[in-house]
Amino acid sequence: MEILKYGNPILKMRCDSISIDEAEEANKLLKKMVDIMHESRGVGLAAPQVGISKRMIVIDLYEEPENIYKIINPKIVWKSEEIVEFSEGCLSIPGIYEKVKRPASVSVEYFNEKFESCFIDHATGLFSSCLQHEIDHLDGKLYIDRLSRIKRARTINKFKKLQEQINFKENDDIVDEE
Ligand code: CO
Repeated sequence: MEILKYGNPILKMRCDSISIDEAEEANKLLKKMVDIMHESRGVGLAAPQVGISKRMIVIDLYEEPENIYKIINPKIVWKSEEIVEFSEGCLSIPGIYEKVKRPASVSVEYFNEKFESCFIDHATGLFSSCLQHEIDHLDGKLYIDRLSRIKRARTINKFKKLQEQINFKENDDIVDEE
């Protein structure tokens, strides 16, 4: 499993819901997703980011006590009217951070890895922002799609330049090894 980067068409697709028949498979994938999230030091990861177009996300805010969320078929059932701005990054757009406006608080219905019905009541702060960011991924939306057109274009440019530098450096390293 590899994290797909901005530009990969899978990241723009709307993901399919998971049925109860797929629960066992989903549980295995969620475990793998947690490992990848931890390896990448991310606070959240959505299945399409690893090439699976299914409605699954994982979240770990690295808080005490440890609480790793494995979330299937999430649905935002309530949003606050209050909007806040949070700096966001994405493992699919590495190295870039931008401020994104979103509802300050959300409530979310979902199924856990055992396919039990669960509810997150009035999530706030980083948790709220993270839930919304990851659920957006399931609808083929990246956080840059929530920026103004100008800011979005600038951010994509910044990312492309950064990727070019990384590719250039990697090619350079290969030459050095020869
Ligand atoms: Co993301």
